[in-house]
Formats: sequence, C-alpha cells, structure tokens
Amino acid sequence: MTLSSAVIGLLVALATAQQPQYPPAFPLQPSLASAYNNAPSVLPNILDSSAPNAQVVCSGYKASNVQQSSSGIQADLTLAGTACNVYGNDIKDLVLSVRYQSQSRLAVSITPKYLAPHNESLYILNERFTPLPGAEDGCSNTTSDLAFSWSNNPTFQFMVSRVGSGETIFSTYGKKIVFEDQFLELVTSMVPDYNVYGLAESFHSFRLGTNYTQTFWNAYNLDNDQLPDVNGHSTHPVYLETRYGNGSSTSHGVYARNAHGQEWLLREDSITYRTIGGSFDFYFLSGPTPKEVISQYQVGIVNTPIMQSYWSLGFHQCRWGYLNWTNLRDVVELYAEQGIQLEGIMNDLDYLNLNRIFTNNANYPVGEGKEFLDWLHARGQYYLPILDPNVYAPDPTNASDTYAPYDRGVELEVFIRNGNNSLYYGMEWNGFSVWPDFSVPQAQQFWTEQFVEYRKKLAFDGFWLDVSDPTSWCTGSCGQYQRSLNPVHVPFALPGDPNTSIAVDFRYPEMFNITNATEAAAASASRASQMSAYPSMTLAPSPVLRRTLATPGVRNINFPPYAINNFLPGHSLLKQVIAPNATHLDGPYNSTEYELHNLYGHLSGNATYNALVEVYEGKRPWFIARSTFAGSGSFAGHWGGDTNSDWGDMYFGISQALQFSIVGIPYFGVETCGFNGNSDMELCTRWMQLSAWFPMYRNHNNRNTIAQEAYRWSTTAESTRRIMNIRYSLLPYTYTLFHKANKAGETVLRALAWEFPDDASLKAIDNQFMSGPALLVTPVLAPLATTVQGVFPGVAAGTIWYDWYTLQKVDVVAGENKTMSAPIEHQPIAVRGGYIIPIQKAGNTTAMSRKSPWSLLIALDKDGKASGELYLDDGINIVQNATKNVEIEFSKGMLSTKVAGDFQDGIPLANITIAGASALPKDISLHIDGAACETAVVEVKTGGDVTYITGLEGVTTGGAWQNDLTLKLVY
Ligand code: NOJ
Repeated sequence: MTLSSAVIGLLVALATAQQPQYPPAFPLQPSLASAYNNAPSVLPNILDSSAPNAQVVCSGYKASNVQQSSSGIQADLTLAGTACNVYGNDIKDLVLSVRYQSQSRLAVSITPKYLAPHNESLYILNERFTPLPGAEDGCSNTTSDLAFSWSNNPTFQFMVSRVGSGETIFSTYGKKIVFEDQFLELVTSMVPDYNVYGLAESFHSFRLGTNYTQTFWNAYNLDNDQLPDVNGHSTHPVYLETRYGNGSSTSHGVYARNAHGQEWLLREDSITYRTIGGSFDFYFLSGPTPKEVISQYQVGIVNTPIMQSYWSLGFHQCRWGYLNWTNLRDVVELYAEQGIQLEGIMNDLDYLNLNRIFTNNANYPVGEGKEFLDWLHARGQYYLPILDPNVYAPDPTNASDTYAPYDRGVELEVFIRNGNNSLYYGMEWNGFSVWPDFSVPQAQQFWTEQFVEYRKKLAFDGFWLDVSDPTSWCTGSCGQYQRSLNPVHVPFALPGDPNTSIAVDFRYPEMFNITNATEAAAASASRASQMSAYPSMTLAPSPVLRRTLATPGVRNINFPPYAINNFLPGHSLLKQVIAPNATHLDGPYNSTEYELHNLYGHLSGNATYNALVEVYEGKRPWFIARSTFAGSGSFAGHWGGDTNSDWGDMYFGISQALQFSIVGIPYFGVETCGFNGNSDMELCTRWMQLSAWFPMYRNHNNRNTIAQEAYRWSTTAESTRRIMNIRYSLLPYTYTLFHKANKAGETVLRALAWEFPDDASLKAIDNQFMSGPALLVTPVLAPLATTVQGVFPGVAAGTIWYDWYTLQKVDVVAGENKTMSAPIEHQPIAVRGGYIIPIQKAGNTTAMSRKSPWSLLIALDKDGKASGELYLDDGINIVQNATKNVEIEFSKGMLSTKVAGDFQDGIPLANITIAGASALPKDISLHIDGAACETAVVEVKTGGDVTYITGLEGVTTGGAWQNDLTLKLVY
C-alpha cells in the first residue's frame, strides 16, 4: 500500500457509514486529488534520457588572475562560452579558492564572485549552521599530504593527488564544471571497481557499489520508511574511499559542504555530484587509513560525537500505543519480573493532548505522571517521551481552542513564514501547524522556555525529536485559510485508525507461515477481509510534471528545472515537507526552505540539545534526532527510521550503523524487532541479539501491531537476558569507546575493513561487524537458521580469535568462511587476541552494573601480549570534576596498569581471566603502587587454555584503579 493509496483508502472509509468521530477528517483538497490522478508520467533527470547532458551543452570555465602562494591558490573562473542555462541560470564569474588547511586536509571551493546579502544564502552555507573548517597554523603546500593541480585546457579542471605516491584521489580532468543558480555539476573519475562508503543516510549495502545514486532531500516515507536506495532522513555529503593493491590499502575522504537538495551518481568509472543550489565547497582528507579518514573528518571538520551519559547505553522500550501511565508501569514491571534489564521507558504520541507538544492528555494526567516518575527514578530508570518540532495552530474561530506555545511563538516571531508576512501553516499529526525557524536565535529562546515550563510539570529525562525532516502532510501552506477545521486529522488513515485498511496490521515476517502456520493463515484471512471492507486503492504512479524548464532570470524553487530523485511520485520537493518557498526569518538573507530544508533536523536538533542542557543544569542530555546533517553528531544521536518487521530490514541496519559511524553519530540504533508490521518470536529474538551491539538500543513498534517487548516470547526473553548481560557487562568498554570517539573521532561500531585495512576480501562485509577493536559479532540474519557463517580476519598474519563464551581459540584458517553453531538463543561473538577488556558484571540497570566488582578479560595474542584501556567519570555531567584513564598491559606473564586522573569509584578488582594462557603459574606476586601485597586470598586456576585468577577483591579493597598495579605470574 502506498501513502497515496492510504489517502484513497481513507476517502473510501469516510464514505462508509462508520467514521471515527475524533479528530474530524480533513477533506482532501480537490487540486491535490486531481494532481494525483491526471498526471503525465515524468522521470527525475537522472533517469530521463531526454534530459540534456550538462557536460555536452555547457561551456565550462577558464581560470585567470591565478595567485599562488604556499597556503593555497586564488583565481577567477569565467564562463568559457555561451551560457547553457541547462537547469538554471549560469553564473558567469566565479572564484576558485584552494587552501592547504592541515597536513591531511585540502579545501577547494568555487563560489560566485559577486554576492550580496539578499542572495548570499543561495550560495553560501553559513558557518552558524555547520562548522566551516579553517586552516591550522603553519600549513602550506610543503607540509600537505595532498597536492592540487589544475589546467585550463580545454576548460578549467582540477585534480587532487597524494604527495609522494602521486596517486590521484579526485580528478575533474576531461569534464566541465557547471555552475548555475539552481544546478551545479562536477564529475570525478574513479578507479575501476572502486570502494566508496558513507553518503549517509541510505538503506543500502555498506559498500555503495558502482551503480548507485544517493539523493539527499530529507524525507519521511510514512508508508515504507525503509525503501532501499532512496533519500532518507539525513544528509551527510561525505564519503570514504578505500583502494587496495599490493597487499595493503590507502583510504581518503571527500566532504562536500553543501546542504541543498543533491545527488551523487556513483557510476562505473566516475562519480557525478549535482546539487540544486549552493556552491562547490570540497574538503579532501588524506587518511591514509579508513580510521584516520574518519577521525580527520570528525576532529577537523564537523566536530567529534557528543559524549553520552553512561545510562544512555542501557536498553530502552518504546511503542506507539502505550495508553496510560499504568500501561508504562506494567511494562517496566514486566521487564523486572522477567529479569531483563530496562533503563528507559519511552512514550510515543500517546501521552500528548491531541498530539500537541508540551501537553498531557486525560490518560496521562500530570499528577499521576509525577508519581510514576518518582517511582521510576527511584528504581534508577528513565522516562523518554517523543517530541515533534511542529506547533499546533489553533482554530481562530473557536475562542476555546487555545494553545499557549502557539501564542508565545507568534509573540516572539519564531515561526516560518509564507513568503510574505503570513505564517506557513502545514499539516502534522495534530492538524494544521507552524514550525519554529531554528535558524534564528529567538527560536532557541522559545524552545528553551517551553522545555523549562514543561519540565516543571514532569521530570522527563530526554526527548526523541521526531519528524524533523521536516514533515508536513499537505501541499504548501494548506492551513492558511482552513485553520477553522482544526484540530483536523491528517489526510490519510493513521495506523490503528478504526474502519480503515490499516486499522490492524496483519503482516508477519517471512517464514511465519512455516513457523506458525495456523496463525499465519488466520492473519492472512483477516487481512483479506479488512482490505475488502476498506480497500486501499492504488493511484496512478506518476503524477504531475514536477520539474520546469529553466527560464532566464527565474529561479523556480518549488519545481526546480533539475528534478532530483526524491522518493515521492513525481519527485516533488513540495509534498510531504514544508514547501521549498516557505521563508525563514534570518535577517537580510531571507533564506527559504529550498536552501535550508536539509538543515531543519540539524538546527532543531541543536536547539533541542541546548534546551535540554538548560533544563538538566549541565547534565548530558539523552537526545536522538530523526533528521541529521553533517555535524549533528556533536549534539545528537539518531535512529534509523521506521523499520519493517522483516529480515532484510534487520540486515540493512548494520550498514546504516556503519554509515553513521563514519559521519560521527555513533549513538545510533534501529527499531528493534521491527516497527511496521508484526514481529514474531524468531525475528524479535535475533533482532534483540543484533541490536544489543548498537549503542542506542531500543525496541519500538507501531500502534496497529502486536506487542513485541522482549518478554513477550519466552525464548526471546531468555536470549535477551543472555545478550543483555553481555552488553551490560561490557559497558566500561563501550563507554571508553565513546570517550575516544568524543576525544579523537574514533568509532564504536566498526567495519571489519577498518580494523583490517589491508585485506581486500573484507571490503564489502556488512553481515558482520566489530564493536571497538576487540569484539567481532556474527549475527544471525536469516529465519530458520541454526548456524551462521562468518570470517575471522587477520588469521593469516597470526591474529588469534577466542570464542566469547568458551574462551577457546576459534579453529579457523585464513580466508575461511566458517560455519558456526547458532541455535536460537545464541549469537556468535569472538574476542581478538591482543586486547584487554574491562568488565563489570551486569546489574539490572547501568547504575547497578557500575557497582559490580571489576574483572579483566585478557585475550593473548600470538606473542602472549595484550593491552587495553579504560575511561571513567561520573557518567552524567558535561563538565567533569574528575576523570580517570587507565592503561592496561599484559606481557611476559605480567599485568600492569597505569592510572591517571582523580576519579575514584572505589570498586575493587575481583577477577582476571587470561584466554590463551594454559600453564598453571607456580606463584603470583602483586604490587600496588610499588608496594607488595599479601596474595594468600588470591586463587589461580587453569582450565582449557584459560587462566582464572579470583579473590583479588580481598587485596584491592581501595578500588581497582586507585593506584598503579602490577601482577606477575611466576611459572
Ligand atoms: C514516526 C517515527 O519514526 C515513529 O517512531 C513514531 O512512532 C511515529 N512517527 C509516530 O510518532
């Protein structure tokens, strides 16, 4: 069923006798209905073979006035012939600026020569929206890893290459630069069978391949939010490329700082970059390892990921359809009864009064809410409600329809406008709505005030900011003259609306018909009968012509001449979002949504983060944003959208998570067990196992589906207990990874190819992944499986892998795709030799886990060595009074720790387990801060190839990390 068919389904349903009484249905506008139905077919330019090829019809540019210095190059670029005006108006005079910004970063921008305040925002992405990297001191062409060369023959073209090897990493040679007001194009040649990753957000394989188009126009597809290969919720115009050869690899990065609607056309021997506005603003990163590229991007350009609170790494339960506080309390209690950890309970729209933000409805009274929150907080758990950015616009003809946030926003002049001075009234869950313009400071004031007021009522612990794409379900300022219909229902049925074809979702995952044949047959019959009672009609697939012909002197921003491949029928930029011609309040610029659309999620996210910091008085906010842009990771996490309850969606989540590792949003997770459609025992069990590795771990589903909390099926509960105990016991390790991400742009979830960059066979692996450098996860991603296959990198070079559960060496030869036993409750996990992992036994919350005695798991490499690290702080405050860094080494039978910093947790070190050490030591000696300790209480045993040292808590009573420690095994 498509969204449009849902529209018709609703109309049909409305025509039948029983209609939902509240909220009233919004009549589909006639113009919209005819647009859907009587439209000629049209393709986006990318697929339209009759669309002119800018490389053929345009003239390119010639460089002149070239000024070269050690810090870079400045030149004029002038149109080399007649204007082609192919998808806009050619800009005749441009400026080239090349800057050697650091040893690893070269910046190349091409901007219009003449800019005035009134048109600046069409071309320049303002620094107040996302970082604009500058040059580090002392950088020059002689210190740079990268070199820039150019030619005017036949027109201006440029190349970026590595100093030393001369390897070209980016080259427009043989292609023209096209620069128009609504269309820019630049083509780089690529090596054969290139390996490109990133360009988040897509629902696609990890390695993007050489026949793929990434479109960026942030959007929400309510009907199927996880369509592969189309634009998603976020825009991150950055890619990582890895080239293999001679048993090694080099990697580099390319970031194009431009927020306009755009496309990246990955083709066999080239990548074509097209945007519908802005400028060329490229940053080339020299790597040369994938990890270095990622770090150079995060540290040097967009800022490193925000440091998460310790408790954010717990497990969270959500669903659309929790009806009242009692319902939430039941869920929390059932998790406890079943012995499954739960850190946060989340609310979807259900708590809001008529879906209006910062309110509570009668089922969620504030008084009872306070009691609930006192109860929850006393248990060490958290409450995380949804927030949407749109503000309900009351019916002006109804004096009793009042809504204070709207009045305050009008007073402060914060809402996006409709070109002239009227407000832009779009459509969201609550009816006709307005949107704060987060590009101006008064919106922050407005937003913070609302947070402060609402928090006085309810001590919520964070927000997940939804539909910040931003989504609007009518075309243009549809509420302008119809606000009197408010509160109006969106113009289609919502999941769970009675008397519609989606009142109940009867879909189940693949193989449900095998595992649950009777139920599957009943569900299929119910589905057929619901569909026949409330059919959802299919509409003509391709509506109105959505692109216009370029007209000299005219910028058509609602229907630009170049149609990017937005997923909607007709590729409309106007539908299901705030219209491109809606106007912001940013002073002389008067930016439109055309320029800022892809930034709305980023800017609203930033304002939300700031407001949360204010209400939490310096504590690290829990915050995830639905829509993000380059740089959002410095204040937000992200979730991957409305997953479908099927196996393919579960699998693609891994690639999505790796994309967000690249762009600096490690606090990423997906809707575990699937959001749309029903889950079943098997899918939910496997998905709870997989997501246990995703930093943001939540189970969430739609309101017209069956319940899917981890305790709903006993097998899922048992499996979840096992994997969650592992997750929670690894919290110190994961938290340390977050610290390193925050400090140095390292990643938490990692591709195998990043940890073993010289092994070309790993370049496309996205069914396995690593958590940090030490843990390899091989999830089961298919139904009815009792085994799973996976590779173990590095074996040829001597890497040893240990099975997590038995600590025995994995018996694997180089290059083997090993089949492992994986019965339903089990997920294969391996520990990499050479690493030391600090562990605390899982408690029922993250806070309780932090009270468990410390253990160390030492996995020896082929030389009998290992190392690890640990970062500790209070886990809560943004500014820390005291922190601790511990370096842990094991070599030649001796463990040593080196501590720095004053943070004390006072928790002793109890156990040390050494995988790969089979001989029983004759004796041990322990020194703390150089002083010998009595070790009579310490016990040493061996079993298999593992040495177990226990009883240390008797000698480390002051705390495991209070002082440097050495422990020598005497053989
Ligand atoms: C879209 C979100 O992605 C989903 O998680 C949520 O349940 C719905 N909006 C309703 O709020």
